[in-house]
Amino acid sequence: MNQAIVLSKHPVGKVTESDFQLVERPSLPCEEGFFRTKNMWLSLDAGFRHWMAEGAGDNYLPGMQIGDPVQGVVIGEVIESRHSGYPVGCIVSARTAWEQFSVLDGKDLCNTLSPADGVPLHQYMSTLGLTGMTAWVGLYRVGNPRAGETVVISAAGGAVGTVAGQLAKAEGCRVVGLTSTRSKADWLVEDVGYDLVIDRETQPDLDQSLRDAVPEGIDVYFDNVGGHVLDTVMAQLKEGARIALSGAISEYEGPVEPLFNSYELVTKRVRMEGFMVTDHVVEFPAILNDLQNRLAEGTLKSYEQIYSGLSETPRAFCDMMHGASRGKCLVGLD
Ligand SMILES: NC(=O)c1ccc[n+]([C@@H]2O[C@H](COP(=O)([O-])OP(=O)(O)OC[C@H]3O[C@@H](n4cnc5c(N)ncnc54)[C@H](OP(=O)(O)O)[C@@H]3O)[C@@H](O)[C@H]2O)c1
Repeated sequence: MNQAIVLSKHPVGKVTESDFQLVERPSLPCEEGFFRTKNMWLSLDAGFRHWMAEGAGDNYLPGMQIGDPVQGVVIGEVIESRHSGYPVGCIVSARTAWEQFSVLDGKDLCNTLSPADGVPLHQYMSTLGLTGMTAWVGLYRVGNPRAGETVVISAAGGAVGTVAGQLAKAEGCRVVGLTSTRSKADWLVEDVGYDLVIDRETQPDLDQSLRDAVPEGIDVYFDNVGGHVLDTVMAQLKEGARIALSGAISEYEGPVEPLFNSYELVTKRVRMEGFMVTDHVVEFPAILNDLQNRLAEGTLKSYEQIYSGLSETPRAFCDMMHGASRGKCLVGLD
């Protein structure tokens, strides 16, 4: 048998634990060309909230269906194989589902991992996984920060935000974060190394708080949030600024908000560019090497919030979506 978390209903507005259900289902057969993994780590990613909504399928992924295991990225060990590329015993990272065991053909964002000595396996799902790659690609391939510039990062206390903030700081930039609570803001300054962090809890007027924090204007904006926050930042950019569009969390659970300040991009010659980390797979080995070196040197820290057991996954996902977790949100399976 195989335990899985399925979508019990399409979330409307804020996702809740009751949108999910733990079920036990018969295991699938492992046919020729497939292999079976025993999953060890589940990655909880805000982006998947988008594909949980009813009719949310798009050019990138199909929408999730009620009763199906919830899609997600996992790390697992191959325990049965009829696929020459994935022998028994190898460790893989793949896009599959929130379940104990998966049967895979190796085609969906699947790769084998060779964990370096002393590096915890779960870091290949956070700083050394797609999360770290997203921060790296968005910052260097789109944001292109230079020493002395001001970089603003939204969802600063999350998985991508904690890595992007540290990378920008290492470039010699002044790094300003946007987050939910004052205690998270303090943690981001004191521990993660942001220069200044604005929180929604005690500073609800983002426009004014940003003008106070960054009177000189913004050179790079790493946007994880979209909507009103993006619009507010657009009004405070410097000439020649860059915006890296990483995601739009505010719109995954709420209405799409209008942008009023887009003409600023014209007069200030701003480059705003969306990216998908999965378009950069050829760069992953080099990025992994860079991130691994920084972790080993101690110039980069990996922040994770770890939950235990498949049944905790809905709670972990809701906590991550609503700002109650810090750094990368992961679930460890037995
Ligand atoms: N383009 C790509 O290839 C790619 C790949 C992976 C992820 N992403 C994107 O990266 C972003 C971060 O994803 P993640 O998985 O690392 O999640 P995460 O940042 O660990 O967690 C989500 C965080 O978003 C913030 N947040 C939630 N609702 C918000 C709202 N209404 N307004 C402002 N902030 C809100 C909260 O952080 P605070 O408490 O700090 O505000 C929350 O903890 C997402 O937009 C995701 O889609 C993009």
